Amino acid sequence: MDESRQKYVPHTLTTQEYYRQITRLKKEKNAVILSHYYMIPEIQLLIYEGGIADFLGDSLGLSLEATKVEQQNIVFCGVNFMAETAKILSPTKNVYIPDKLAGCSLASSITKEDVRNLRKQYPGVPVIAYVNTYAETKAECDVCCTSRNALSIAKSFKEDTLIFLPDKFMGENLRRRIYAETGKKLILWNGTCEVHEQFKSDSFTSLKAEHPDAKMLLHWEVPEQTVQENISEMGGILGSTNDIINYVSQSKDQTFILASECDLGSTLKRMFTGKEFITPCVKCSYMKMITLDSILRTLQSIGTAEERFYEIALESNIIKAASIPVKRMLQYN
Ligand code: 13P
Ligand code: SF4
Repeated sequence: MDESRQKYVPHTLTTQEYYRQITRLKKEKNAVILSHYYMIPEIQLLIYEGGIADFLGDSLGLSLEATKVEQQNIVFCGVNFMAETAKILSPTKNVYIPDKLAGCSLASSITKEDVRNLRKQYPGVPVIAYVNTYAETKAECDVCCTSRNALSIAKSFKEDTLIFLPDKFMGENLRRRIYAETGKKLILWNGTCEVHEQFKSDSFTSLKAEHPDAKMLLHWEVPEQTVQENISEMGGILGSTNDIINYVSQSKDQTFILASECDLGSTLKRMFTGKEFITPCVKCSYMKMITLDSILRTLQSIGTAEERFYEIALESNIIKAASIPVKRMLQYN
């Protein structure tokens, strides 16, 4: 257990008291809170809705926002690879994550040595890294992508074979689309998201029987067989978090079955109050490590010796190398 956790004695405040203290400290410490859609509802709530988040977004939206913030301190409510991406894009800012153990099964499935070995095995083949990778891995790749712009980035290469890593299931979904649209082939790694891989073809049998008119909302990271069988039966969308939100906003349908992280369901319910969202509710244990209490503790630490437990520290050579593929990614949004 790391040092910060040994000392950790959680506060037991009401949500409103956490909001009050967090809001006061944000101002005092010149900090901004960026929140991913997979945070618990109390963290996702934006300031104008009575909450504490300055910005709510998907991984690409949050990366873009990190380049625009005026405050010196960014408290990133997401997982490590996302906070690292913010640091890569805004190296002069201090970026903090309320729990450094907030990892990701995809990011930890591949190392920089793995990418070097792939390059030896497939000389000259461009490497596209999903943004769900750590900074050292990104530094070895040609371009990064998120689930929102993966398709357009893959299409932008002239080569007819590309390496896409590390998500095998997202890669298989992409491969089908890219091959159909361009004839290009994808070489894949074997990482998986431990949340989205749980959506099996038959995970929705009873939900579909209860809601025969529902449309499917499937994230790119869901296994291909689940995607193909459920979309052809029910209709709906395979896309990124933002694609899913846009699809619902334009749809006349009333009921949707979500195959993505459970708390995206809370976001959708809040955004589209007249519509119904049903999900088997699979939660990302890493995202749930971020709590109101750990956010408060992070803010309290800023400017003290304790801040090292929360601050993202990357070597300058890694920031420099990783910023090339990350900045390329931002040209496609
Ligand atoms: P988005 O790129 O859609 O935000 O997804 C992030 C993620 O971790 C998916 O599991
Ligand atoms: Fe990683 Fe999956 Fe969690 Fe996203 S939902 S952070 S891909 S483990």
